[in-house]
Amino acid sequence: MDKLFIFDTTLRDGEQVPGCQLNTIEKIQVAKALETLGVDVIEAGFPISSPGDFNSVVEISKAVTWPTICALTRAVEKDIDVAADALKYAKRKRIHTGIGTSDYHIKHKFNSTREEIIERAVAAVKYAKRYMEDVEFYAEDAGRTDNEYLARVVQAVINAGATVVNIPDTTGYCLPTEYGAKIKYLIDHVEMKEAILSTHCHQDLGMATANSIMGVLSGARQVEVTINGIGERAGNTSLEEVVMAIKSHKELEIDTNINTQKIYPTSRMISSLMNMPVQPNKAIVGRNAFAHSSGIHQDGVLKNLSTYEIINPKDVGIDDNAIVLTARSGRAALKNRLSILGIEVDDEKLSEIYQQFLELADRKKDITDEDVLILAGKETNKMHRIRLDYLQVTSGLGIRNVAIVGLDIAGEKFEASATGNGPVDAAIKAVKQIIHRQTTIQEFLIQAINKGSDDTGKVHMQVEHEGINYYGFSANTDIVAAAVEAFINAVNKFVK
Ligand code: KIV
Ligand code: ZN
Repeated sequence: MDKLFIFDTTLRDGEQVPGCQLNTIEKIQVAKALETLGVDVIEAGFPISSPGDFNSVVEISKAVTWPTICALTRAVEKDIDVAADALKYAKRKRIHTGIGTSDYHIKHKFNSTREEIIERAVAAVKYAKRYMEDVEFYAEDAGRTDNEYLARVVQAVINAGATVVNIPDTTGYCLPTEYGAKIKYLIDHVEMKEAILSTHCHQDLGMATANSIMGVLSGARQVEVTINGIGERAGNTSLEEVVMAIKSHKELEIDTNINTQKIYPTSRMISSLMNMPVQPNKAIVGRNAFAHSSGIHQDGVLKNLSTYEIINPKDVGIDDNAIVLTARSGRAALKNRLSILGIEVDDEKLSEIYQQFLELADRKKDITDEDVLILAGKETNKMHRIRLDYLQVTSGLGIRNVAIVGLDIAGEKFEASATGNGPVDAAIKAVKQIIHRQTTIQEFLIQAINKGSDDTGKVHMQVEHEGINYYGFSANTDIVAAAVEAFINAVNKFVK
């Protein structure tokens, strides 16, 4: 079996998505979950980009034991100095430096020449090598870089000491055959020494997984991926898709270090912390990924699972018999569940979550892992300037939809009522009457978590104010309340 290294960039490329930003504590939670999942490399951030990113790389380096911690830089000495400093506590560390190599980048981004770019690439790798042995180089926009020139870049950085060379399809442009041929061309034309090639594919044309697999079949031995495929624009390659494709095709004789039974819990945790819903039909981790609804399929799987199921859901950690918590569950059971989900809390935080848990359990019979994750991630809104005090709606068919809303704004009480084309519309109009701000809802997504009419509804909202989009999130068994809370959550981000 050949080993394929899994390089997770959820905390760097994934976290760049607007609305997905995590604080340092949340990033440590994610990093620990990735460690338990078995990833080889965690790209923890881009330290020069902000003090928050710098600090997260420092703290993740302290918290994580065995995976390599990687920090991104441009091919700039100052970036490399800062990254090396951020990585000082890492037990295993890597600098990921690079520069654009396509003619688009060379001409329009750097106003430079191909030769000068090679010089800058080599200088950056040599500079990073002064700090550590493990240096990865990325040839940004390699997907649109001419292969002959790319081979010269790759050879030059390997000669300069690069241990891994990343071939990103930055714009998600390549066809699988084209990307596979690119990797093969490099393997055939570059003296690789001890170095390996890495794939880094984006999903703009929906081919990220196919391209990564073609890269691996052509000789790449590292894949750069994110959980749930999150990432800028259409996203990055999904960890779960590549890993399960490799595992399902034993004839490839390639193995990863991933404990696949941790895939589903990690996916849920990240979706919940990043407020990023997973589409129901998403491969491997979508709610419907293993749901057989057509009569013919149901008949087949009842006779034998192998008729329509290529993966046993248990292999990715989906357990239909998972214990659910109820109103009778105690604090210890809740703490245990949180710990299984990778969340360690102190007594004070546990009491806070337990209180919310009991309130939710009053309204909902079974509390699922997703509910627990939402409760654990919920910000205490005590700190917020605007808080929802109460909400009363009258809605139905053939009557007017009316909402009365009570808000607490920095301790002062306000009330307004409004009508609308539905209860959410009426309630948000009433909130707007109180806050007096020009806002437009750009995106509004309501999602049930599990099954049943008593289920918790999650609301994701993007609210535009003065040309900027603000992200709001809430979860509640009352979806009108969840919508109003998500709206207020977004508004709190621009009301000072
Ligand atoms: O997509 C890309 O090219 C990247 C690099 C910075 C590695 O994310
Ligand atoms: Zn990328």
